[in-house]
This record gives sequence, C-alpha cells and structure tokens, in this order.
Amino acid sequence: MKNVIVGQSGGPTSVINSSLLGVFQTAKDRGADIVYGMVHGIKGLLDEDIIDLSKEIRNELDMDLLKRTPSSFLGSCRYKLPDLEGNEKTYEKIFAILKKYEIYAFFYIGGNDSMDTIMKLADYGKKIKSPIRFMGVPKTIDNDLMITDHTPGFGSAAKYIAATMKEVIRDGLVYDYPVVSVVEVMGRNAGWLTSAAALAKGDDCEGVDMIFLPERVFDIDYFLKKVGELLKQDRSIVIAVSEGVKVADGRYVCELADHVDYVDMFGHKQLAGTARFLAGEVAKKYGCKTRAIELSSLQRCAAHVMARVDMTEAFNVGGAAVKYAFDADEKTGEGMTGMVVTLKRVLDDPYICITEPADVHEIADIEKKVPDEWITKDGTYVTDDLVHYIHPLIQAEIIPLWVNGLPHHIKRGHTD
Ligand code: F6P
Repeated sequence: MKNVIVGQSGGPTSVINSSLLGVFQTAKDRGADIVYGMVHGIKGLLDEDIIDLSKEIRNELDMDLLKRTPSSFLGSCRYKLPDLEGNEKTYEKIFAILKKYEIYAFFYIGGNDSMDTIMKLADYGKKIKSPIRFMGVPKTIDNDLMITDHTPGFGSAAKYIAATMKEVIRDGLVYDYPVVSVVEVMGRNAGWLTSAAALAKGDDCEGVDMIFLPERVFDIDYFLKKVGELLKQDRSIVIAVSEGVKVADGRYVCELADHVDYVDMFGHKQLAGTARFLAGEVAKKYGCKTRAIELSSLQRCAAHVMARVDMTEAFNVGGAAVKYAFDADEKTGEGMTGMVVTLKRVLDDPYICITEPADVHEIADIEKKVPDEWITKDGTYVTDDLVHYIHPLIQAEIIPLWVNGLPHHIKRGHTD
C-alpha cells in the first residue's frame, strides 16, 4: 500500500495549488492508493485533521478550478517543530499518525521555514530507520530559497507587481502637479519581489523612479534628498520600497512609526506601514501630495494575472517530488528522502528550466538575498541583469474561469 500525504505551509501564492495538483496527479499516476491532505499543514497533522483529496478533486473541472484558485486550498500554518533533541514525544506522535494512515511519502509545499519541517522529519526518520520518504516542494513569492533558480509563486507575484506599477504610474501622471506614490512590496528580508517593479518600464511606460531593497541599509535623509531632486523635475514620482528595508541600527523602517508586535513561531515580525511612514516623511518635508500604497495580501493571491510559466513550474515541482520519492535512486536503490525539488535554468532564450533534487539541509531556514551586483551603486534601482532574470518568469497567461463576471474558485469541502 502506498498512501501519500501532502501539506501546504507558510504564506500563500497564486500557484501553490498547482503544486498540490502536481503531487496529487503524479502520486495517483504512480499507483498511490490514497492521497491525503493535511489541513493547516503539520499543525493539522498533529491534530489528525486529514482529508482524502480524491473526495475534493473529483474531475477535470475540479482540477481546472484548483489550478486557478489562489492561496492554499488545504489551509496553511506557520508552525515550527521543536528540535529533535529532548522532544522525541512530538516526533513519536507524528510517526505514529503516519503509520496509522500507512503513509509511504510525505510532501510539504512551502518556503525556507517550511523546509525546516521536512529537514527535522527526514532526520528523525533516518534516525529511527523509518521507510517514510520526506520531500520538500518549493514555493514562496519571496523567491528567497537557496540553490533553486527561483521559486514557484514568485513569477505570478512579480507579474502582478510590474502590472500594478504600470497602473500606478499612469494614475500618478493624470494631474498637472506632482504626486509622490510610495508602493510597499512584500518579501521580508529579500528584495526579489520589489525588484520586479523595474519590469514596468517600457515603450508604453516611464517606469518607477526608484526601487529600495532590504539588501542595502535604508538612509531616510538620502531617500528624502533623492525625492527632492526628482520633484525639481515637477512631475509625479513612483517609488517601490520593500516592506523589509531597515535603517542603520537594524530597525525596520516600519518600526519607526508603529510598534510591530506580532511575531510568528519562526521569529518573523509582521511587517507593514513602511510606505505610510515614508509618504508621511515626504509630505512633511515637501508639502506635496503623496500616496502610500501597501499591496499586502493582494500581491500574493492575484490569480487573475497568474503567469502561465509559473503555474506550469509549480505543477512540475509537485510532480517531480513524487517522482523522486517513488523512483529508485541510482545511488541508494530507494526513493529519495530529505530532499527539496529545485528549478535549474538551462537556457535563457528560449527559456528552459528543469527540476533537480537538493539536500534540504542546504535550503531550510536560509534566506537567499539579491546579489549586490544586481543593485545599482547608489542603491536606488536594480540592474538590467536582474530585469533579464525575472523577465521569463512572468510570461504567458492563464484565463480564469469567469462566473457572474468574476474569477471562479474551488473551496475545500465543496463536495459536502
Ligand atoms: O512568506 C511570504 C510572505 O508573504 C512575506 O513576503 C511576508 O512578509 C509574509 O509572508 C507575511 O506573513 P503572514 O502571511 O504571516 O502575514
């Protein structure tokens, strides 16, 4: 009997459900009997909140809707498993549940925090010589996973950011007086997604005026000086700023205004308010009209502008995880465990990417930052190399299934 279980963890994306479908379909094709889903990730597993995915994904229409439905169909969590040492009871409980459901392979779709779960479970599994395979399936709009060329979820969020910037720029230019719009983009401590603002520039668009990433220390006086210089040209200004920019003493800019008090189990502060704070500083200094635009959750679930390239790769990494777990590896003669599927860019033009497995220890809990050489010397923009890197990832579209004028989605429990 080869049952498998799959969970989704961390922040949602537009295409995370394509990875779920990739796991589901490939596991079924490879003879899995039941494909279980953990409701709210590992937290749900500990509570035995588990569903049979065949009852939710019943036909072609369900699959088509699932691919077009943003956010995590199974529900997510930000739950950190305790260290192995001294916490054996938690692991004994998880492995007892997996045994009860006769699980052969465990798939977890998530970012670097979620890969911490795969790492700990795979390490414990090896320690007790469990036959269960543990595989990580990458996703995050932050694009901050090591080894992989990029992460599923990033391309669609980047497409939304670039498209939105074009619209904000057109809006800002409507009056005959300047407006300074500060647009805050997610990504925590990595500026990949904020960099996507640079893709707005083209024949039909002036492009954003400045881009600030968390990889460089943020100097408020310098920022205001640059805004002042741009205002002398007497036109509207659009600035993309990462939610994670920090001043020299290590505080997030958003902490300068409001006290950020929500911290998750991985020690991440909830970041918000950077744009509001900076727009306020600009208004105070120059007395001009300003707008603070916090894209917040809009940017990670904008499935109506999903990139087809991203959706396809999200499906493929799910499928590849199953393949690696099920097929005998040349070295060991067994299916892999303790690995994460990564994307390897083989060619830029035409763009070609393949999947490769990588050791979870090289990915879990580590953030990949934007390389310094891809940020301009003065730290106010990104280079063409970064634009070329992102460009193929936002390509092609997938049309939503429109019902009553709106994109239609699938919900868990729709069969009840
Ligand atoms: O993990 C991706 C991410 O979207 C980050 O960019 C953002 O800082 C964070 O999640 C927000 O977390 P939450 O969904 O818990 O508010």
